[in-house]
Amino acid sequence: MEFLDQLKNLKEQLKFESSFGSVRPFSNIIISGMGGSGIAGSIFSELYDRSPVTVVSDYNLPAYAGPDTLFIGISYSGNTEETLTATREAVRKGCQIRLITSGGELSELGEKTVIIPSGLQPRSALGYLLVPFLRSFMNFNESDYEETCRILSGLDAEHREARELAETIGREGSIPVIFGHYPYRWVAYRWKTQFNENSKILAFSNFFPELNHNDTVPLKSTYRKDAFRFISFGDASDRIEKRIEITSRITGTDFVRVHVNGKTLLQKLFYLIHYGDYVSYHLAKYRNIDPEEVSVISSLKDELMH
Ligand code: F6R
Repeated sequence: MEFLDQLKNLKEQLKFESSFGSVRPFSNIIISGMGGSGIAGSIFSELYDRSPVTVVSDYNLPAYAGPDTLFIGISYSGNTEETLTATREAVRKGCQIRLITSGGELSELGEKTVIIPSGLQPRSALGYLLVPFLRSFMNFNESDYEETCRILSGLDAEHREARELAETIGREGSIPVIFGHYPYRWVAYRWKTQFNENSKILAFSNFFPELNHNDTVPLKSTYRKDAFRFISFGDASDRIEKRIEITSRITGTDFVRVHVNGKTLLQKLFYLIHYGDYVSYHLAKYRNIDPEEVSVISSLKDELMH
């Protein structure tokens, strides 16, 4: 599938009717996943607050992992070294195991595995990777999913502002710095990773209010400040909105504010994710590079296998 069609596929992925099925009671959730797969777990961890959720983006599990843990391993390819290692450890420690993958070795490690369609870039499969979490643990209703699909279709058809932001960044040759806030902290990170892999540029993210205790200092007095393009999101609480306004004023920093469309959390979340998909896609186009190509990651994985 062409990369642009992969982006447009997101709304179809929301119709994916899969969940983890019945789970026995657990006291904590540990999610293991890297890159474009792991982000699904991170976004979920920001939304879900009925038990502690730890996202492991590394090889090893925390010592408390055990029979009371619901372990969810996510790897689109099913062959990611860190996720396989963490999953094998979870099996050894007697965790309750659920997996999401399109195949690979991971699909052989658990009995209850959500198999998702293959043939996409992992980062273009975010709908497939996230929906099992949402359908299993969050109570969004069907009309909410339908409206979210409608909103995503609207963005697919018309995303002029996203393209203009991409062209501004491309013209300036600037480094995007995305400042999110709850419940979009991990959406800010997703934007960063989409800039990394689709646009092939460095990008950084942080979130309010935490960044008021560190990044705010260089916002006032860093060298080469014009090398960065600062982006923040709308739909902030009054306190966060006030922080954004004060931060901008006292540090003399302009933020591109990205308005968040939609009425519900589900709609806003996917709108903002998809908006970032388009900014990163158009920046790749502006730079005349292939947004899909990430062969350096594959080369690194290959070398690690020998
Ligand atoms: C995203 C991407 C990477 C992978 C990561 C882990 O498109 O190419 O970020 O997601 O290398 O691989 P998987 O997702 O197969 O476990």
